Amino acid sequence: MMGRITIKNAADIEKMKAAGNIVKKTLELLSEKAEVGMTTEELDRIAETYIRKQGAYPSFLNYSGYPKSICTSVNQQVVHGIPGKYKLRDGDILSLDVGAKLDGFHGDAARTVLIGNVPEDVQKLVTVTRECFFEALKFARPGYHISDIGAAVQKHAEAHGYGVVRDLIGHGIGREMHEPPDVPNFADRRMGRGAKLVPGMVIAIEPMINMGTWEVVQLRDGWTIETRDGKPSAHYENTVAITEGEPMLLTL
Ligand code: MF3
Ligand code: CO
Repeated sequence: MMGRITIKNAADIEKMKAAGNIVKKTLELLSEKAEVGMTTEELDRIAETYIRKQGAYPSFLNYSGYPKSICTSVNQQVVHGIPGKYKLRDGDILSLDVGAKLDGFHGDAARTVLIGNVPEDVQKLVTVTRECFFEALKFARPGYHISDIGAAVQKHAEAHGYGVVRDLIGHGIGREMHEPPDVPNFADRRMGRGAKLVPGMVIAIEPMINMGTWEVVQLRDGWTIETRDGKPSAHYENTVAITEGEPMLLTL
């Protein structure tokens, strides 16, 4: 992503917190509702209705022509699964990705939830993916660089033998859903240390971790990303504001 990193002032951060809070609550609602037999389209309806009721707009709807309000990615689907007629089954994992725009600013976050009885090795993938985010969060402070975040995710994921998705990355966020800087989940040599983190930067940190190979393929719907080997993948994301001290989680 080209261009300049925008620095948010205190008033901007307050607005982003409000947008982020709607994203957080939508994800909580969806996690509660998601169960065996429900279609992903029904979850999309629930999310859009809730987001609009809060006076916000679902950021993904019509984004580059995206047809729905949320992304629902099941099992081997990594991200950008389009809600549809698929009925959730016992043992599925479901990645829910939600964005909301309020008062000119976006929030963006994702969770992977368990549907019924999920095999233990797949549960572990979901747990470690969440842990990857919190490992990265330790470096979301002034004095560190963007590359420290990716390196932390990669180290934790690869220690478990998992693959870190390369083709999709985290991002700056603010008045646009995708702003500079790019936030890879791996140490990207081409990037060097990357931008220095400073107070007022807001980024979406979003590890996408595969049980097998890091390689992915895109389906012919033009959106859905799946693992190349068909093994499961998990996603966990929060919008994070860099401050002088502790990072501020705007969607948690
Ligand atoms: N949440 C995704 C991201 O972090 C965006 C979804 S793409 C969309 O980049 F088209 F569905 F909006
Ligand atoms: Co994102």
